[in-house]
Amino acid sequence: MYIGLLHTHSVLRWIALILLVVALINALISKGKGTYLKKDKMINLFAMVMLHTQLLIGFVLYFISPKVSFSEGWMKNPSFRFHGMEHILVMLIAIVLVTIGRKKAENASVVSQKHTKIMVWYTIGLVLIIASIPWPFRQALGGAWY
Ligand code: HEM
Ligand code: HEM
Repeated sequence: MYIGLLHTHSVLRWIALILLVVALINALISKGKGTYLKKDKMINLFAMVMLHTQLLIGFVLYFISPKVSFSEGWMKNPSFRFHGMEHILVMLIAIVLVTIGRKKAENASVVSQKHTKIMVWYTIGLVLIIASIPWPFRQALGGAWY
């Protein structure tokens, strides 16, 4: 189960990143058009749902991954510190911000404001997510590309 979830979590990262970028580009274009259609709503929703899925899988991984360990001196080990604390903390913040942002966009009464909310909150989320992915070039973390 561990390997399956790890691969799913790893591949879904790309879908999550792509959907966030698509949502941002869409917000920019649709703001120019001055419309907020069902497709705008769906794009924003799918991007958020993909993050919720990552959250759920991430929670399970947190309990079964060998990269999460709270043994003696874990804070001094870059990989244990990253996977046990930094990754979950920053991703959680990013997902909460995207969820709040989408709620604010849905609740905004002016069309252009809906798109602005998505642009602001999803951009912050995207930056945080990119910053706390265990990319393969962060050698101490031993992550994979997919
Ligand atoms: C640890 C797991 C999860 C937590 C803590 C969580 C939390 C939340 C919260 C707080 C909201 C409310 C957002 C709002 O009011 O706008 C929400 C909405 C939503 N979540 Fe999740 N979620 C989780 C997993 C999932 C999964 C696995 C899926 C689907 C694959 C999912 C799909 C949705 C959808 C579709 C909505 C939007 C409902 C709507 O506003 O129409 N969530 N989630
Ligand atoms: C947008 C949200 C997230 C993204 C894009 C993401 C992405 C990733 C990626 C790319 C990896 C490396 C996979 C590999 O090397 O094959 C990883 C590992 C991991 N993630 Fe996440 N993650 C997210 C959220 C979370 C959350 C919220 C948690 C915890 C609740 C979590 C827990 C873990 C754990 C424990 C690992 C280590 C698994 C292992 O290598 O054994 N992730 N994540």
